[in-house]
Amino acid sequence: MVDDLSDRRISNSAPGAGSPGIPLYGSLSFASVILAAGKGTRMKSRKPKALHTVCGKPMLEIVVESARSAGSAPVVVVVPSDSTAIREALGDKCLYAVQKEQLGTGHALMQAQATIPDCDNIVVMAGDTPLLRHETLAEMTRTHIATEAPITMLTSSHTEPEGLGRVVRGHDGKIAAVVEQKQADPETLDIREVNAGAYCFNSSWLWDNLPCLKPSSTGEIYLTDLIEVAVTQGLEVASLALDDGSEAFGINTRVELSRAESMMRDRILRRWMMEGVTIPDPESVYIDYAVQIGLDSVILPNTHIKGRVAIGEDCEIGPNSIVVDSQIGDQCKIVSSVVEEAVLESDVHVGPFSHLRRGTYLESEVHIGNFGEIKNSRIGRATKSGHFSYIGDADVGANVNIGAGSITCNYDGQEKHRTVIGDDVFIGCDTMMVAPVTIGDRSYTGTGSVINKNVPPDSGAIGAPARIRTKKPGRDSGSA
Ligand code: UD1
Ligand code: CA
Repeated sequence: MVDDLSDRRISNSAPGAGSPGIPLYGSLSFASVILAAGKGTRMKSRKPKALHTVCGKPMLEIVVESARSAGSAPVVVVVPSDSTAIREALGDKCLYAVQKEQLGTGHALMQAQATIPDCDNIVVMAGDTPLLRHETLAEMTRTHIATEAPITMLTSSHTEPEGLGRVVRGHDGKIAAVVEQKQADPETLDIREVNAGAYCFNSSWLWDNLPCLKPSSTGEIYLTDLIEVAVTQGLEVASLALDDGSEAFGINTRVELSRAESMMRDRILRRWMMEGVTIPDPESVYIDYAVQIGLDSVILPNTHIKGRVAIGEDCEIGPNSIVVDSQIGDQCKIVSSVVEEAVLESDVHVGPFSHLRRGTYLESEVHIGNFGEIKNSRIGRATKSGHFSYIGDADVGANVNIGAGSITCNYDGQEKHRTVIGDDVFIGCDTMMVAPVTIGDRSYTGTGSVINKNVPPDSGAIGAPARIRTKKPGRDSGSA
């Protein structure tokens, strides 16, 4: 029995999903603010930018989880006035502050002040940089503690600088300012070190100085102007340089969305290969963020594993398969098939060319061969359906043989009805089971029979409509 593989395998977790509460920062408290009230106009979408997904998860949710994994609490998300969709997607994973008018990143942070409880330090980041690792956020926080600076910021010299703020340093190498691309002169534009958009602030310094920020030449209040404010006060701004420039990658357009997806996908695939999963052709394999895969499983080409999926050990998935929101036990094999919202115990074989739909539950050693469709049904241990079948709304026992072409006629035009098949039943080829109907243990049905009334245990049903034979003769021809 496979009850909850995702719990069982939580230690083999997906990239970015750190354990809550691991980094401890002594007695210091850290809250996080994630800025996500921007219009996201360049996405050209009806949906808020924050909810566009990267490897199956809304980008904002990825950032919220990273903030939590890095050990800060609570996490406050700054949202626009119309934030119903965001609140529905994230629920109580975070607190919300509203920015009614999009007057810039500095203004956005001001809106969060009333929602943040008293704390020593505040981590601030953007909702559109989902590739930033929680380990990096935690390291930035530790740097902040060590340097006692009013601001510690993340910078990158390995990211395409286009569109990003440039980090200007003085002759002594210390940070002097962050200059936005729009305000930068040609010399500043040549600077390779950019602002990754994540910061750690001493909170009392922040709340003293944030209200003093003036709008920039674009009319927006830039959070990044705080760096110059600190420097003018004679305070040193600390920084942590990213080794992996992809972490600073921000998403503003759908082109950038696809690049972020591809970088995240690469991380996920590498992670699973390092965890003992064989993926011979990673170029053609798509694994979502919230997927778990057990040791020595093999994911073959052209395979998509989407949503919340847990795959056990020694499985072979693919080629050409789609698995969505399902639990797959150990030693299962899925070939050229689609599996959606299904649970498979261990040693189950599916395909080629079968479709398991919502509510399918296959016990151990079940075999679903070619062109089978199953929906909202439980199939008992070691039952076999080798060829062309539709099983819908059925409870099928153990060791049943379902002959080629057999169908549960579950729909009478108005309502769906259930078919119940006992243990050790032999369903002859081309049997039509007209639900609601029950076929008792150890019974059989004849080739081409139409079962429109219940078949008691230890009997046969032959013909269309079927006549019941109470004493069981030799079996009719089936298929195996
Ligand atoms: C910002 C930084 C830039 C940095 C880059 C890193 C500023 C002024 N610039 O630029 O130095 O290199 O991030 O990715 O901060 N937002 C609001 N309310 C607003 C405006 C923005 O909540 O009024 C949110 C956005 O939804 C977004 C984040 O703040 O999640 C950053 O805003 P965005 O406009 O994308 O800033 P960038 O131009 O990327
Ligand atoms: Ca951005």
